[in-house]
Amino acid sequence: DSDAPRLTVIGTGYLGATHAICMAVLGFEVLGVDADPEKIERLAAGEAPIFEPGLPELLTKALDSGRLRFTTSHAEAGEFGDVHFLCVGTPQLPGSDAADLSYVESAVRSLAPHLRRRSLVVGKSTVPVGTAQRLTGLVQDLAPAGTDVELAWNPEFLREGFGVDDTMHPDRLVFGVASDWAHERLRAAFKPVLDQGTPVIRTDLATAELVKVAANSFLATKISYINAMAEVCEAVGADIKDLADSLALDDRIGGKFLRPGLGFGGGCLPKDIRAFAHRAEEIGVGQAVSFLRQVDDINRRRRARTVDLVREVLGGTVAGKRIAAWGAAFKPNSDDIRDAPALDVAHTLHGLGGDVRVYDPAALGNARRAFPDLRYGDGAFEVAEDADVVVLLTEWSVFREVEPEALAEVVGHRRIVDGRHALDAARWRKAGWEYRALGRS
Ligand code: UDX
Repeated sequence: DSDAPRLTVIGTGYLGATHAICMAVLGFEVLGVDADPEKIERLAAGEAPIFEPGLPELLTKALDSGRLRFTTSHAEAGEFGDVHFLCVGTPQLPGSDAADLSYVESAVRSLAPHLRRRSLVVGKSTVPVGTAQRLTGLVQDLAPAGTDVELAWNPEFLREGFGVDDTMHPDRLVFGVASDWAHERLRAAFKPVLDQGTPVIRTDLATAELVKVAANSFLATKISYINAMAEVCEAVGADIKDLADSLALDDRIGGKFLRPGLGFGGGCLPKDIRAFAHRAEEIGVGQAVSFLRQVDDINRRRRARTVDLVREVLGGTVAGKRIAAWGAAFKPNSDDIRDAPALDVAHTLHGLGGDVRVYDPAALGNARRAFPDLRYGDGAFEVAEDADVVVLLTEWSVFREVEPEALAEVVGHRRIVDGRHALDAARWRKAGWEYRALGRS
């Protein structure tokens, strides 16, 4: 298609790598850009930088097609592209709740002077509302005189572990634009996805930025809501699983993101709700979203209460006890350990003197680098050898499928704490285990 815009994708992390690869597979000419030469070399050699089901195969396919290339040069990006996607991270600033916008800004500063023709720069990163307006000024100031450049915002909703499917078949596309031209360019840059009938919301820049944080805040609130109910259940000996199942059958409520347990972590939900609360305070509407502080507090309490439950199961002391920690990633089918509840709990138990051994099917490498003082093992059974308690922290299917009778052969004591409500309590109890989960009697 000769009308198809040529795309660059700046930033090749979870979001950017997935976006670049999928767009090339959909038929676009794509140039992936990253400041890190090692990352670029590995991608160009066909090595996916992240654990994402289906991505390695699509990377090979895209490279073979000749439509996907990688570079560290922003000059090359400016030369090549018509539409430039900003996919760099916006992590939490150390010591603050605010988002660190330095990567987004430096991407714009590096790219803008190299733009060579009428260009559209599209932000995909999650940013505080108002950022797009500010970046519009920046990109126009820095672009060469006479080069017409516009900025648009297209928030990204992909979930880790489902990144390919969420990119190829999103629930919706949100186009925050300041002109018809920008809107048409975005439509062209997503044509194959739009042709599937994907709904599009055309809106202004600020709304597009807000949709993302509003969505993640809602999801976080839903999880903390059910976990707040779990706290109440704990106090009265009621059963959070039955309660959640009952709510889920009301289709106005729905069962998604209503799974109680250790709560949310990852590179998005925790930092996004904090940055949103912070931004709202800055612009004088802090009161409107002050509940997000409580959502965060409820979520953090889950980790502390899980540690307390392990201590209780161990008769009051953790020190010297052998603890098998099942899971390190913030959720199954991911190697991501950013703000992972699992590692938080494992590390706290270790700090209390527990002899903790951690296993995770995908995140061990990352966990070892981040927490070198923890001990690790190579399998669910291996770390459970002679354990005083097994603690399920991330609900990978390899843990869900463990036979309680087989595990009983290796542990020291048949005690299991199910931090994710992932196991069949009756089955484990029948096999002679003391099964415990927060919010269940
Ligand atoms: C999230 C959003 O879902 C996605 O739209 C956005 O683009 C990025 O942030 P992700 O961080 O990949 O995606 O993970 P998600 O599947 O949303 O899970 C977040 C956390 O919530 C995990 O730690 C998960 O274990 C936890 N969770 C999820 C629950 O505790 N209970 C639930 O019912 C659902």
